[in-house]
Amino acid sequence: MRSAELDEFVERVNERTDIYSVVSRYVQLTQRNGRYWGRCPFHNEKTASFCVSADKGLFYCFGCGAGGNAFKFLSLIENISYFEAIKLQAQRLDIDLPTRKLSPEEERRRREEKDLFKINELAQDFYHESLIKTARGEVGRKYLEARGITAETIENFKLGFAPEEWDNLLTTLRRKGFSHQQIETVGLITKSKNSSGYYDRFRGRIMIPITDIFGHVVGFGGRVLEASDNDTPKYLNTSETPIFNKRNLLFGLDKSNRAISSAGKAIVVEGYMDAISLFSAGIKNVVASLGTAFTPEHAKLITRYTKKIIFCYDSDEAGQKATIRALPIVQAAGAEVFIIKVPDGKDPDEFIRKHGKEEFETLIKNAETMIDYRINYVVDHSDLSTISGKVRALHDILPVVANVDSEVLRNEYRKKISSALVMDEHDIASEWKNFSSKTRQENFREPEIKTVAIQRPILPDNDTTSQVRLACEDILRLSWHDTEALEYALKLVPREIFTEPHREIIKWYRTCAAEERRPDQMRAAEELSEAAYAELSRIFIDGFETPPETDLKVFDDAVNFLRLTMLKKKYKDLVVQAEKQASNDKETYNKTVEESLKIKKEIDKLQNNP
Ligand code: UTP
Ligand code: MN
Repeated sequence: MRSAELDEFVERVNERTDIYSVVSRYVQLTQRNGRYWGRCPFHNEKTASFCVSADKGLFYCFGCGAGGNAFKFLSLIENISYFEAIKLQAQRLDIDLPTRKLSPEEERRRREEKDLFKINELAQDFYHESLIKTARGEVGRKYLEARGITAETIENFKLGFAPEEWDNLLTTLRRKGFSHQQIETVGLITKSKNSSGYYDRFRGRIMIPITDIFGHVVGFGGRVLEASDNDTPKYLNTSETPIFNKRNLLFGLDKSNRAISSAGKAIVVEGYMDAISLFSAGIKNVVASLGTAFTPEHAKLITRYTKKIIFCYDSDEAGQKATIRALPIVQAAGAEVFIIKVPDGKDPDEFIRKHGKEEFETLIKNAETMIDYRINYVVDHSDLSTISGKVRALHDILPVVANVDSEVLRNEYRKKISSALVMDEHDIASEWKNFSSKTRQENFREPEIKTVAIQRPILPDNDTTSQVRLACEDILRLSWHDTEALEYALKLVPREIFTEPHREIIKWYRTCAAEERRPDQMRAAEELSEAAYAELSRIFIDGFETPPETDLKVFDDAVNFLRLTMLKKKYKDLVVQAEKQASNDKETYNKTVEESLKIKKEIDKLQNNP
């Protein structure tokens, strides 16, 4: 049982939620015939079969069958539970959560985690103060100034400086009451090898706090001032801790997510400094992968805000290799990928400092498509002096272009490849054809469908399949708030004619009636299975609108049609049965015939007087 307080909270969030604003944060929607359409974020598709009805508060994808209300949408796209989705939406709407009692275990873990965040936050303040206020910070200030980093940027990213001393931070944090063990857990101090003591892990470095999307400080990157010897890494980062995992962190995302949503694209760079530099120059839709390979988790973090990702890694070999490796990961996440190759300078930071924001924006505008990038990359990395080298290069390129649907684009790519490899277009065309038919045979797979396909009921006659389905849907749609109508229909129409999800919906309607509450979308989303709830949403979105005054007639027609269909099927079965019995069992034969005649009469009656 839910508390009244919780119910009231859910109602408040629901009241203020409009599905259009929820969905359009993730999916580009265009209006057509009073509804909104877009490309489904839950499966890969080229044409828009994802539909949002703002007045009904529902979405449904005609491609993959996902459907439901705004919270269902959030829970699917953020991969969180339905209730977490309500909470997330509440947060976005600035509605306070009702307070809930935590279990002692949850309470303890929550407190521990809070302590770890707190330690990092204090460390951030300590480093920041030493950078901007102390004499020791002078070297740090000079360094950042020389790199063109303004006081405003230092403030914005809370950049700091770890003094060249052994236990400054340690002492400060101990004084605030934190234990050695806690400070070690977040990776700020290290145990001495030959004594029982600890010392500060970051020393003599510019400190860059790393935050999660909620703005909690979870770790640090520390840069040396001058590359001195080869033993000192340029960056020292927090290693894996209970609150720091590089695989699912993107530097800057807490600051850039709004800009990413509104720009409709995210720029991914390699380095902290690249992100900081672009952001301060006014390119705010930027994040940095923290010197690790780009992971599916990273892709998922970004695709919460946009499906368009632009990679802008360093122009050196390592950066380009990392780009090539990231591409399939982003593509698998269903994102559209573009690549910027920085023409002048090693990385985006250098470029924007040299050429400014406008020129960087031109780079964004002219970003290469993934296919162009791959073609160019292969050409640059192949030996084209021999025929076999060219063929090998062609075979490296074909996998990325093989799935291009458009004839026009295919022609364009063929021309492009032809001139890049200096190879005859006809030869390319025939290799391409071979390649496509081979991979089609090897890899042909139906597109993945996420939700359960709607089961077909046992049907009397194949021709009437869709009519039966429509009639069932009419009954469900029109008995949404009318239990009596439903009971009436169920007396006349056998349950088997409904599909499994339909039967679940019927059962739920009856439960609601038994508990004397009206079915509503919120409860439906919580209480029905995913398949049944998606189906219910579809019925409401798809069910053709009939004027209310005809509801009764539509309902009656549906019931009669289903009855008729079932009777016809029964009649046909009995006729077949009778034929078999005719030669040997006179008595049962007579009974069967009698029964069939009765049914025939019923059919005639229904047909003549529907
Ligand atoms: P870069 O060397 O490109 O970083 O490494 P950067 O931000 O451009 O550095 P600057 O401009 O020289 O200050 C890319 C990223 O790889 C990680 C860091 O996250 C860095 O931002 N990295 C690099 C390390 O973790 N350790 C290193 O020693 C070097
Ligand atoms: Mn750099």
